[in-house]
Amino acid sequence: MEIIEDIYGRSFKTLRVSLLNTCNLACSYCVDPNQKESLKYNNKKERKSLSTNEFITIIKALHQILNFETVRFTGGEPTLYKDLLNLTMGVAQLGIPQIKMTTNGVTLQKNAKLLKEAGLSSINVSLDALDEDIAFKISKRHKITQVLAGVDAALEVGIKLKLNCVVIRGENDSQIIDLLDYAIKNQISIRYLELMQMGHLYHNFEQNFFSEAEILEVISKKYAYKSIQRADFSTTKYFELGNGFQFGIISNVSDPFCNDCNRLRLDSYGDIYGCLSENEPINILENLHNQTQLSAKLHQALGQKKTRFLGSKLSMLNIGG
Ligand code: 5AD
Repeated sequence: MEIIEDIYGRSFKTLRVSLLNTCNLACSYCVDPNQKESLKYNNKKERKSLSTNEFITIIKALHQILNFETVRFTGGEPTLYKDLLNLTMGVAQLGIPQIKMTTNGVTLQKNAKLLKEAGLSSINVSLDALDEDIAFKISKRHKITQVLAGVDAALEVGIKLKLNCVVIRGENDSQIIDLLDYAIKNQISIRYLELMQMGHLYHNFEQNFFSEAEILEVISKKYAYKSIQRADFSTTKYFELGNGFQFGIISNVSDPFCNDCNRLRLDSYGDIYGCLSENEPINILENLHNQTQLSAKLHQALGQKKTRFLGSKLSMLNIGG
């Protein structure tokens, strides 16, 4: 079988699938607050989204060439995809070892058990604030109680869970310690994400950015920590507190991890992307039954990978992080 690998030894081992590009929150880093129809934001309205069978056919064809270790469902908000349970079961049947999801957690309380039974192994929950007012200011919805109940439900049914907190200057940098205390108390893994220059932030990024060094400075006011070596292919640097608890920082900007990026992205129209920085979609719908053509498209996607994040006009709402 052909090896799809670039000169840096990068290949595709993780597939991130954006199931749809709508969300039930309108977080300030995803959705432009000045855009009137923010929740309906969709720059490809005219195109038909994939059905569950189509998703499975595509994932299967890609898996035959790439032998994925992980498929991660993202969005928009993946739990809004109506057929998520069947899709999860279908992907599990392809023999892909890890099926994961990144969600805002709003509907987890009722879905967690079913998702676990369908084959989902782990979940990242976006939790940017615990404070009701701050959470509302960021997400424009009063959902924090529901999200925390969703986290509890997922832990109860035994789904592995990590918290993601995107730190935005002036919006939730005051929440860093409270979130850490919450994570320690509940023994949940937590990662702070540096803001990425995407979507509407592309043009006014600097004033919102809060760096790894600043996050660590905030934490050091309450806790002593030591850093731990970043594992290969991991986006996260971990730090350990005196009590043994580890927290992570995803330093997209301060310390990019593009050099061993192994991610391929698929959106809900059958377009693939080799890199978050590169907006050029590569459509594979016509190539699924021809390995030579599909491999050529994958080489093209691999060629999109940069060595550093250069910003993107696409929002995570479209490409799913
Ligand atoms: N910068 C950093 N993280 C972002 N996310 C969405 N948009 C951005 C951005 N501009 C986060 C979400 C989710 C993860 C997939 O990416 O909160 O946790």
